Amino acid sequence: MAGLLKNAYPWIKLPLIVSAPMLNAATPALAASVSQARGIGFLAGGTKPAELDDLLARTTALFDSASPLRRGPNDTLPFGVGFQNWGCKLDAMIPMFRKHRVAAIWLFAPKHLSDFASWAREIRAVSDGYTQVWIQVGTVMEALEVMRLARPDVLVVQGTDAGGHGLRQSASIISLLPETKDALEAIGFHNVPVLAAGGIVEARGVAAALSLGADGVVMGTRFLAAEEAGIAKGWQNEIIRVGDGGATTKRSTLCDRLKETVGWPEHYDGRAVTNKGHLDEEGGLSDAENVRMYKEELKQGDEAWGDHGRMVTYAGTGVGLIKQRRPAADIVEETSTGALNILQRYARMANSKL
Ligand SMILES: Cc1cc2nc3c(=O)[nH]c(=O)nc-3n(C[C@H](O)[C@H](O)[C@H](O)COP(=O)(O)O)c2cc1C
Repeated sequence: MAGLLKNAYPWIKLPLIVSAPMLNAATPALAASVSQARGIGFLAGGTKPAELDDLLARTTALFDSASPLRRGPNDTLPFGVGFQNWGCKLDAMIPMFRKHRVAAIWLFAPKHLSDFASWAREIRAVSDGYTQVWIQVGTVMEALEVMRLARPDVLVVQGTDAGGHGLRQSASIISLLPETKDALEAIGFHNVPVLAAGGIVEARGVAAALSLGADGVVMGTRFLAAEEAGIAKGWQNEIIRVGDGGATTKRSTLCDRLKETVGWPEHYDGRAVTNKGHLDEEGGLSDAENVRMYKEELKQGDEAWGDHGRMVTYAGTGVGLIKQRRPAADIVEETSTGALNILQRYARMANSKL
C-alpha cells in the first residue's frame, strides 16, 4: 500500500511523514517545508472561503520556480488541506477546490458520518478525480462505515493519545491500528493506505506504527514544536517543557468551553495539557467564572502559559518526548530515516549468525 501512496504522491519519501491540518498552527511555511522535505504537509481549511483562498495562494507561492517540487501529478499542488466538517459548508468551499487543485483534501469530525459521502463525491467531481480524499477516523466501526460511505483514498486512524480533538472514546494506536486493518481486510477493503495518528512524535513511534501495519504516520504535536508552527511562544515553550504526557495531558471539552467554540459533535473532546482551569473545574468552579479568569489571563500573552497558567495547550501524550524546537524539514528527515534505521538494524540483528 505504501506503493499506492508513492504513485499518488511521487515526491514522497517512505516511510511517509505527514503534518496534520491544525487550525492556525499549520502555516503555509509548515505545510510547504514538510512537502519539500518529501513528506506531505497539510493546511487547515477553516470555515471562510476567502481566508482559505489566501492561505492556499500563499502556500502555492512558496513552491517557486527554483524549487524542484512545484506540482504533484496531474498538476495538483503538492500539499493538502483539511476540514473539520461539522463547522464547514461544502457549497461554499467547492469554488476553492476548483481554483486550487490540491493533492489531497482531509475530512474529519462531521455532524453525521454520511456527510462524508457528499464531500467525497464533490471533491472528486470538481477535481476530475485528481484531488485525493483522506478521512480521519477514531474507531474500527467508523473506519468500516466511512469506507462504505465515501471510499476514501487514504484512511487516517487516530488513537486516543492524539493531541487536539478526537473521539471521546477510542483506543491507543497499538490496538486500534491492527484491529482496523484486520476489519478492513475481512470485508474486502485490501487496498486503502492506512496512516497512524496519535502519540507518535519520533522515530521509535514511527517504527512502531509501521510494525502495526501502518503505511505512514501523521504527527500533529511534534510539528507544534517546528520553527514554522503558527502558535504562541508560550504554547510552544510548554510543548518543550511538559513531560510524562499520560499524566500531564487530559481529554476534556473544557478548552472548547473556555474558548467559547460552539458546535463540536458531542462525541468529540480534545486532549490538552492539564492547566489551572481543569483543576478549578474539578474543584467545582463554574464555567462562567472559569471563562472569565481565562479571558483575564489571555491579556498576559506568553506569560499566561506554564505550570499555573490557564491557556489552552493542545498536545498529545507524546509531548514528553519533544525536547527541542526544530525546522520542520529536520523533523521529517529525523523521523522517517530514523524509523527506517531502527527497522533495518533489527533485521540485520535477526539475520546475523552471531
Ligand atoms: C493543535 C492541534 C490542532 C489540530 N487540529 C486539527 C484539525 O483542525 N483537523 C483535524 O482533522 N485534526 C486536527 N488535529 C488532530 C490531528 O489531525 C492528529 O490526529 C493529531 O495531531 C495526532 O496526534 P499527535 O498530536 O499526538 O501527533 C489537531 C491536533 C493538534 C495537536
